[in-house]
Amino acid sequence: MEKGNILIKNASEIVTCSGFKAKAGKEMSDLKIIPDGAVIIEGGIIKAAGKSDKILEYFKDTSNYQVIDASSKSVLPGFVDSHTHFVFGGYRAEEFCWRLNGVSYMEIMQRGGGIINTVKATRSASKKELYNSGMKRLDSMLSLGVTTIEGKSGYGLDCETEIKQLEVMDELDRAHPIDVVKTFLGAHAVPEEYEGEEDKFIDYIITEVLPVVAEKKLAEFCDVFCEKNVFSVEQSKRLLLKAKEMGLGLKLHADEIVQLGGAELAAELGAVSADHLLQVSDRGIKEMARAGVVATLLPGTAFSLKEPYAKARYMIDNHCAVALATDMNPGSCFTESIPLIFALATIYMNMSLEEAISSLTINGAAALNRAETIGSIDVGKKGDMSILEFPSYKYIPYHLGISCVEKVIKNGRVVFDKERKGEKICW
Ligand code: NIG
Ligand code: FE
Repeated sequence: MEKGNILIKNASEIVTCSGFKAKAGKEMSDLKIIPDGAVIIEGGIIKAAGKSDKILEYFKDTSNYQVIDASSKSVLPGFVDSHTHFVFGGYRAEEFCWRLNGVSYMEIMQRGGGIINTVKATRSASKKELYNSGMKRLDSMLSLGVTTIEGKSGYGLDCETEIKQLEVMDELDRAHPIDVVKTFLGAHAVPEEYEGEEDKFIDYIITEVLPVVAEKKLAEFCDVFCEKNVFSVEQSKRLLLKAKEMGLGLKLHADEIVQLGGAELAAELGAVSADHLLQVSDRGIKEMARAGVVATLLPGTAFSLKEPYAKARYMIDNHCAVALATDMNPGSCFTESIPLIFALATIYMNMSLEEAISSLTINGAAALNRAETIGSIDVGKKGDMSILEFPSYKYIPYHLGISCVEKVIKNGRVVFDKERKGEKICW
């Protein structure tokens, strides 16, 4: 049997999410479902998708294929988690408990905790330690149907540690079935050695760190925490313009705690995505829609910080392309849970289930500039998909907080199988 050759047949439905670019507004509701479907993956690439009887009629010799009978099961594209900070040292369970007692995320940060706490632990962690903990988190994501993620640096805030984080992600990308897309977030916080000197720190990132990242091709995107008491719109713009000049795509942590104008900046610079957006202005939303910036919403973070959810409904009704992601990180949202994100988006954010699925597939791919190669079950795309243990995608939020994913297929190979009780499948 050839590697990367799979025939999935008799599926109760193939939720194709068909498309090759971000879906905006109403387009997000159409999942382009094929009932009684089959998919052929050859050499890791999708070769055909259609009605089972039609596909099987033309496709008789299955000797070179792993054949999976998906009767009474739904098939979906692999999920794309387009915003994570999954490589880090140490944990911050203490801070979580302080937050439960009413201390705010920004207060903890101003007291020298928060991101800086993780920076200390990440600076002192060995590459091996970061690799091992990152690997476990990837395993957990894979079991939930995730086949591509974005991972950010930002817990180094110095050249050596930022590079260390990005190199660990690079190694994990090669060693694990999940594809890891790397983002440089050197301006994630002001380190102690630059306290009160934000401009000088941005200068340092621009002159000393960014050129190394760009030259070694260690990241595809540059991100910045554009927030009151972190980096201003002007400082963020200065950094992002340099990053653009050096060939990186742009992302922003924008308008998360305070309405600062991050979304408007994202639109002005042609960023690929603006993320968080809990406090975004209506003007910012309209400008993002016009400029084609993907609005990446992170409801796990709003939930964990007890902040109001982003205005997903208003964004979609105003023709934005919305993506959803976990924001997996040790502070504001320590979770890999795709089921949690589905629950929050559909129950609290007024998103339909169809919109939520588009947000975690084709629009997640678009938020990583990859809508042409992943995020849907379309001929020519990577053979990345999952098979649910239920006949319909409607079971996803209905089975509250529990993953419905039975098998995960990456590049045409089964890389996770619930029935094999979590045993690690060789990659
Ligand atoms: O996306 N807001 C800034 N950055 C992360 C949190 C990082 C942390 O607290 O460690 C976020 O929420
Ligand atoms: Fe984040």
